[in-house]
Amino acid sequence: MISNAGRRLTGRTALFGMVVWLFAVVAPTPAQAEYADIVINNYADAAGMRPVVFPHWFHRIRFRCKVCHADLGFKFKAGGNAITMAKIIDGEFCGACHNGEVSWSVENCDMCHSGIPGTPTHFHGSTVQRLIAPPFKGLDQSKQPQ
Ligand code: HEC
Ligand code: HEC
Ligand code: HEC
Repeated sequence: MISNAGRRLTGRTALFGMVVWLFAVVAPTPAQAEYADIVINNYADAAGMRPVVFPHWFHRIRFRCKVCHADLGFKFKAGGNAITMAKIIDGEFCGACHNGEVSWSVENCDMCHSGIPGTPTHFHGSTVQRLIAPPFKGLDQSKQPQ
């Protein structure tokens, strides 16, 4: 038989468990940098632009590996492709899709150049949330300059 005190304790434990669960499931997490994001910063910092954050997972669920790593020729190495804006505008690398047809076009600088200045080129293998500056707001028409 459980005493009244025992019952209260059990009740509290359950309540505590629920609060923890609510926080884990419902509380908004600042979802920004994700596992497998790649920061590309061979030239950006030096040119006064924020480093590029390439959300690899976001793209991987939309395209087969082959599309980028065979057809578009991306080497399997973070920072290993000497990507420049001239090449992107010519339709190479990111520019094969970020051309206003497959996806939004190259004018949206901040969508790609969203890294914290000074972040070196690397493959982001943990869930640390510190890589990206505040999210891009430019596609909201009400916030566009008139
Ligand atoms: C689709 C993604 C994407 C968009 C949009 C984009 N960039 Fe880039 N940009 C890159 C990548 C990737 C690199 C290579 C980064 C590195 O290695 O440092 C780069 C590099 C650069 C560089 C340094 C190399 C170079 O070519 O001079 C500059 C400057 C730059 N971008 C400016 C811009 C500006 C300005 C805009 C908006 C008009 C823009 N970018 C939009 C992806 C993008
Ligand atoms: C939309 C294009 C795209 C798709 C699809 C894609 N990748 Fe990538 N991948 C990239 C880019 C861009 C890089 C970074 C290259 C750079 O920094 O120059 C990269 C880098 C990599 C790397 C190197 C990471 C490191 O440690 O340096 C590996 C491994 C990789 N991809 C595997 C895959 C696999 C496996 C798939 C399919 C499940 C895939 N990629 C799908 C664009 C893509
Ligand atoms: C094979 C086509 C393809 C290539 C190559 C590609 N992208 Fe994308 N990218 C897309 C598509 C499609 C979307 C989704 C656009 C949408 O939702 O309207 C996207 C979205 C994005 C986003 C926004 C992610 C988000 O959370 O909304 C970023 C940032 C981005 N790409 C950066 C890059 C960079 C940097 C490169 C080159 C290193 C690149 N992409 C190469 C097709 C591509």
